[in-house]
Amino acid sequence: MIGIVAAMREELGAIRDAARAEGTVAAERTAGVELERATLAGREVVLALSGVGKVAAAATAALLCERVDALLMVGTAGGLGDEVKPGDVVVATAALQHDFDARPLWPQRVLPGIGVERVPTDPALTAVLVEAAERVCAEHRTDLAALGLGTPAVHQGLVVSGDVFVATSERSTLLRSDLPDALAVEMEGAAVAQVCHAAGVPFGLVRTISDRADASAAIDFPRFLRAVAAPYAHDLVLAALAAL
Ligand code: ADE
Repeated sequence: MIGIVAAMREELGAIRDAARAEGTVAAERTAGVELERATLAGREVVLALSGVGKVAAAATAALLCERVDALLMVGTAGGLGDEVKPGDVVVATAALQHDFDARPLWPQRVLPGIGVERVPTDPALTAVLVEAAERVCAEHRTDLAALGLGTPAVHQGLVVSGDVFVATSERSTLLRSDLPDALAVEMEGAAVAQVCHAAGVPFGLVRTISDRADASAAIDFPRFLRAVAAPYAHDLVLAALAAL
């Protein structure tokens, strides 16, 4: 059983539609979270809409970890790395909570339960997601060009999460100087990574870049969410499921 989680309705919508088209979807509501058991590309899956932010994501991940053998998270993120631009895809090799700070008890961002700041994702799932992302970027090249975006690229590396939508260049500059190797910022991935790590459930995280986490993010993000996030998330998940 594979869990698929996204924070926003737009990010999960096309995946849900595909599951409904394929067969019966059994919905279960637990602790306020709607989980849908379904078949996607012939695989047994549980789909979950987590809601935005680390608490909502962690609660959803805990419920999923009781039901699945592996968990994939899809959605959008703001680009932080110099080369990471809207339309690109970032596959996380590790995830970190940029706003976690228990100093002076522990070093900045270190999670006391684990003793590290960076929680690694599962290498096999990450490799599958990179391959899926390469395929999806090639397929969507022309749609992105129609939106005025360049040729999409796939990146692998650090994704950082926090309970803040980063929409000023001051804030993204600060993140870049604190964490120079961070490729992208979002609001859930590292929380899901922490829960999966504790539960021993392999976790893969893939994000499509919707904005540059600066003053244009408030405009770029909703536009991108409507036009690109749903088809990208759908195609990434289906390509990954076919390879698992
Ligand atoms: N998700 C997409 N864009 C984001 C941003 N700029 N900050 C946080 N989460 C995001």
